[in-house]
Amino acid sequence: MENSTAWIEFKNITKEFPGVKALDDVSFDVKKGEVLALCGENGAGKSTLINICSGLYKPDGGTVVVKDAEIHFRNARDAEGAKIATVHQEIPVCLNMTIAENMFLGPKPPSKKPLLNRKYMNEHTKERLAIFGLTCSPSDKMGRLTIAEQSLINILKALDSKPEFLILDEPTSSLADAQKEILFAQIRKLREESGVTVLYVSHRLEEVVEIADRVAVLKDGRFVDSKPISETSVDEIIRMMVGRDVEVANIYKERAVGEVALKVSNLNRGRILQNVGFDVRKGEILGFSGFQGSGRTEILRAIIGLDKVNSINVEVNGKPVKIHRPEQAVHCGIAMISENRRDEGVIPNFDVERNIIASSLRKVSGGLFINRGKAKEETQKYVDMMSIKLASNRQLMVNLSGGNQQKVIIGRWLMSDPIVLLCDEPTRGIDVGAKSEIHSILMELASRGMAIVVVSSELPEIMAIADRIVVMCEGRVTGELQRSEFSEEAIVSLASDLSIGAACAS
Ligand SMILES: Nc1ncnc2c1ncn2[C@@H]1O[C@H](COP(=O)(O)OP(=O)(O)OP(=O)(O)O)[C@@H](O)[C@H]1O
Ligand SMILES: [Mg+2]
Repeated sequence: MENSTAWIEFKNITKEFPGVKALDDVSFDVKKGEVLALCGENGAGKSTLINICSGLYKPDGGTVVVKDAEIHFRNARDAEGAKIATVHQEIPVCLNMTIAENMFLGPKPPSKKPLLNRKYMNEHTKERLAIFGLTCSPSDKMGRLTIAEQSLINILKALDSKPEFLILDEPTSSLADAQKEILFAQIRKLREESGVTVLYVSHRLEEVVEIADRVAVLKDGRFVDSKPISETSVDEIIRMMVGRDVEVANIYKERAVGEVALKVSNLNRGRILQNVGFDVRKGEILGFSGFQGSGRTEILRAIIGLDKVNSINVEVNGKPVKIHRPEQAVHCGIAMISENRRDEGVIPNFDVERNIIASSLRKVSGGLFINRGKAKEETQKYVDMMSIKLASNRQLMVNLSGGNQQKVIIGRWLMSDPIVLLCDEPTRGIDVGAKSEIHSILMELASRGMAIVVVSSELPEIMAIADRIVVMCEGRVTGELQRSEFSEEAIVSLASDLSIGAACAS
């Protein structure tokens, strides 16, 4: 019988939230020792299913069978007891605790030694950090880490628990290519040496076909189909996800560019940023490329006053401005879509409408009070524009799927109609269809004269929309490419500028 090889089997799983059937009669299994990729558009139900596996949600109907026995998890601890480890999409970390404390937090520390043996904790953590080549110290606070580093700590923690079933919900959305390769090597090793079963969720379909043995697709809470990777293709997966062909159209449009909208010069922050300067004109899309840690995100953070710097000069529309806090940036006409939507974007317990209007209250208020009708109308405009999937505009942000939260944040900054829009990984966690919608929106905004800066780790993304690309390496600008000069080779060679690397190391 085929089922006897299943590690976990979902039988007719249903899960409803007010106004939405997140899972509707879903049945499939994950075979022992296989890597099954779970794909679907934003809001398809992937994380909901994962939350059921990890004991956070109870299904309304249906059963989950683990190794031929029906299971009823009451909480996360039950799931861990069943040897299930989950790396969730929205990284739950305690920002005020150290890396080592986070590694050892939870019901199952990876050793029988006493929990507060700091020396052991630090040594063990240091060893684990080395797997991903992380040079941070076990006693660093989690809050100081980049989002990619936080996500790696969570992955290490899951690996440490020696699971039989490992669930990874969008593990690579913030990772650099090299880190992704290490993760994939770890996954392969676990599968081959320990027969671990893996459920892998990602919107990066090239990765799915690279790592998975089989792919299963959900659409609007329903199971569509599953196929062995060897018998399918990225195009077919997209068709199953979206229900039609998605054309990868060339969305780049020639535009007239105007005056300089944002000029940054003399930007220095220790070794992290060294004498960075650039400008971007009205109607122009400027891309920033470079490896993780090259300083791209830090430039954007410095501009809006999120980090302290040694020096920075900023001019907006030719006038010098002083920005010490993000609110001041908004007043100067600079908006930023942050990479870290959990800490710097989403207001979780506010509804979608309040999240969208948050930075444009003046636009929707008559005098002192918010004009409800206007707020509703404006919100609906962005919900429609980006096909944000929600039960109602009054739904709380925290209950939206990860990708849909990202779309709401983009809506907020579009509504504030800035002079300059800074975007850090704007399509992180966004599904294929919505991704090209967001690219078209950025193109349209630029056509209307907005100056746009995009930081992205995805070369195809940045090459598709940018007019110009500035490449960074180790905190310095190593080159600039005009659109006619774009190629992956040219970007990568500037990003790995060896002479700069040597200079920094010395
Ligand atoms: N706690 C909740 N309360 C209300 N609705 C919820 C809750 N959790 C999820 N939903 C809804 O269930 C649906 C499925 O969400 P889910 O997070 O499973 O999607 P997903 O496939 O993981 O999407 P993404 O790719 O964007 O992460 C969405 O419409 C979402 O708004
Ligand atoms: Mg999700």
